[in-house]
Amino acid sequence: MSVYILGIESSCDDTSAAVIRDHKILANLIANQQVHRDFGGVVPELASRAHQQNIIPVINKAILAAKIRKNQINAVAFTNGPGLLGSLMVGSSFAKAFALALGIPLITVNHMHAHILAHFIEDEEQPKSPPFPFLCLTVSGGHTQIVVVHNTREMEVIGQTIDDAAGEAFDKAAKIMGLPYPGGPLIDRHAQKGNPLAFRFPHPRVPGLDFSFSGLKTSVLYFLRDQLKNDPKFIAANIDDLSASIQHTIVGILMKQMRKAVEQTGIRHVALAGGVSANSGLRRAFMQEQDDKNWEVYIPRFDYCTDNAAMIAMAGYFKYLDGDFAPLDTTPFTRYQG
Ligand code: KG4
Ligand code: ZN
Repeated sequence: MSVYILGIESSCDDTSAAVIRDHKILANLIANQQVHRDFGGVVPELASRAHQQNIIPVINKAILAAKIRKNQINAVAFTNGPGLLGSLMVGSSFAKAFALALGIPLITVNHMHAHILAHFIEDEEQPKSPPFPFLCLTVSGGHTQIVVVHNTREMEVIGQTIDDAAGEAFDKAAKIMGLPYPGGPLIDRHAQKGNPLAFRFPHPRVPGLDFSFSGLKTSVLYFLRDQLKNDPKFIAANIDDLSASIQHTIVGILMKQMRKAVEQTGIRHVALAGGVSANSGLRRAFMQEQDDKNWEVYIPRFDYCTDNAAMIAMAGYFKYLDGDFAPLDTTPFTRYQG
């Protein structure tokens, strides 16, 4: 018999609801919050309020779009961390009320694990799922991790950022250049027209498989401050080359550690996950490793890279099969827990 899961994502600034039937997505809707654009980052209080406005309409629409009745839903899965506490509480409170009203199990989902489990959504645009164990580079606005994925439950972090996340590096560099939040997709767009070797920014020296991106932000800041002294229009005149060079540096830092991780673990099945996996330069760098026959590469469909509830529903499905349900007094967590 098919299993239907309602998935809810509200960890940051996207309110999303999805319905999955086994491995297939029946609906995946996202309400983006525009209120943060002028602030250069997500404002937690505004995010919580926007989730309150969006959550009921988004869930209603997802259930309608899935063409199912509420009483067909077997369980409700929601993101319980990591993320912004106020945002997470909106999703968790709704999920609890929904589970109680329908008398169905409640499932908690780790947002970072869900990004990885998005690879198991059956979709013709992502024809193959990685076999276990595989390595996953999980890169988002809040996290940068190299993970050995042993199975759907055991995920071992073997490398992570010691300061900023890769997405944060994109967003902060964009902010310095006067681009609105989130700047990652805008840098990506400009980079496609620019020369990646036009400007050189240093790579950090970090031991093991960890990452550091705070130095890049500082070097972009000082470089632009110096250039603007001579030419106040320097950024506008060089936005494409600047974007391409910054992207080239971030991708270079990520790829160097990934190559090391593949060498150290001997695992050649390598996946990409999280919002930054939407980046065209990073996708290209991964595909290049596959063309060079070093790696077998798995990249999720674009819509399943940035925050979405389809991945939460997918993760919830696996927990449903395991009978891994949460009590109604469960509380969200803000920092990553393995
Ligand atoms: O996973 P995600 O949607 O949210 C978090 O869990 O953080 O990731 C959001 C991050 C933001 O930093 C955003 O700028 C970045 O992913 N991002 C990109 C691209 N699309 C989204 N960064 C670079 N290039 C992109 N195309
Ligand atoms: Zn995310």
